[in-house]
Amino acid sequence: MTTASVSTLLDPSVHESAETDGRSFTTSRARSEPSHRELVRAALARYSSAIGLPALVRRHGSPLLVLDTSRVREQLDLLRRELPDARIHFATKALPHPAVIRTIAATGASFEVASRGEIALLRENGVDLSGTLHTHPIRTRSDIGDAYGCGIRRFVVDNPGELSKIAELPHDVDVLVRLSFPNPDAGCDLSAKFGATERQAAALVGDAIRHGVRVAGFSFHVGSQTTSVAPFEHAIQRSTRLMDELEARFGLRFHVIDLGGGFPIGYDEAVPELAALATGIRTAIAVGGRNDTVLLEPGRFVTATAMTLVTRVVGSSDRVDGRWHYLDDGLYGSYSNVLTEGVHPLVFAASELTTTPDAASERVTLAGPTCDSVDVIARGIDLPVLGEGDLLVSPMMGAYTSVTASGFNGLEPTRIHVISGTR
Ligand SMILES: Cc1ncc(COP(=O)(O)O)c(C=O)c1O
Repeated sequence: MTTASVSTLLDPSVHESAETDGRSFTTSRARSEPSHRELVRAALARYSSAIGLPALVRRHGSPLLVLDTSRVREQLDLLRRELPDARIHFATKALPHPAVIRTIAATGASFEVASRGEIALLRENGVDLSGTLHTHPIRTRSDIGDAYGCGIRRFVVDNPGELSKIAELPHDVDVLVRLSFPNPDAGCDLSAKFGATERQAAALVGDAIRHGVRVAGFSFHVGSQTTSVAPFEHAIQRSTRLMDELEARFGLRFHVIDLGGGFPIGYDEAVPELAALATGIRTAIAVGGRNDTVLLEPGRFVTATAMTLVTRVVGSSDRVDGRWHYLDDGLYGSYSNVLTEGVHPLVFAASELTTTPDAASERVTLAGPTCDSVDVIARGIDLPVLGEGDLLVSPMMGAYTSVTASGFNGLEPTRIHVISGTR
């Protein structure tokens, strides 16, 4: 995504052309072009006015997460437009909220789950679980049995022990073998903990044949917040080649390739447009020359833009390194994505959304409400002069935020107020 296209993400009424091919992303821009922060600010200002954010905060207080289900639909539409042949399994873990689940189910998409709790949430919201994918490669036998009892028929495996557990189920299930394609450049390398090497995967297919377990195909995750197309291309090439080889070796036919998630969001930096990534993905699949069903497990991309966080300055103090503002939400709350995901959401003073930003700003540190020194949201950022009670707003706070909050120090979970589009 070019810096300009951030505003498209935040505000679909703005359409600016993308110039990157998604391969090498450059941060250089003409001197006159607005910065990423300015583009996000302008789009957030329009959005805040359109949804009546100030009135919502007056009514519901602070801190407040505003969850806009229309943005979930928009992101799903975008994925469907760019990768029309892929079937979407929303990664429930990113934002396991009933309104999100119902919105996604209503569009006909399916789900990816990793735990009993996520299965229970889907059931409570009336989801037919027969199309759900259980991706956790390490589960107890009772987790597996109960998932089967709830209707789940497809499981991901990456090791022989897990395969032998799946083999105890009736034979109407199939498995995807998860491959590991390490990607240290991703925000979160999801091959660091799970996934079989290609050699291990070949052995697993042999085991599956011996156990009488059907292998539908292969899955991988190139890493969350992957900002170039190369890891997708590499993983698709290696997977399709492996599928061809193993079909020839074992005389069977696979029919599924699951590309996982990983599609990025432009928090404090612009990221490639989905269109650019999708072009590379479609090409890599076409070059593979197979005719597999393509699955996706997007989480961040579907939900990040759907939540906006409003916080308030509780108190301020001058420290040796400058002025600190202490907010009513932090790294053990909604900003847990800073801690667990390594992302850096932008933070704006609410006043920046209603007036043209002027030069009267100061460099500050923003800290969360707990007693822990780790609880620092941002250091050295320029904000208008703020005092007790002033409001701040962060966009793109829908993925891995409230769900990874801990309640440390006895803090209440931040309230989530659900809306659907503009007033
Ligand atoms: C198995 C699996 N699928 C999908 C996802 C979603 O990834 P993302 O939010 O990067 O799209 C994750 C994230 O942890 C995952 O572990």
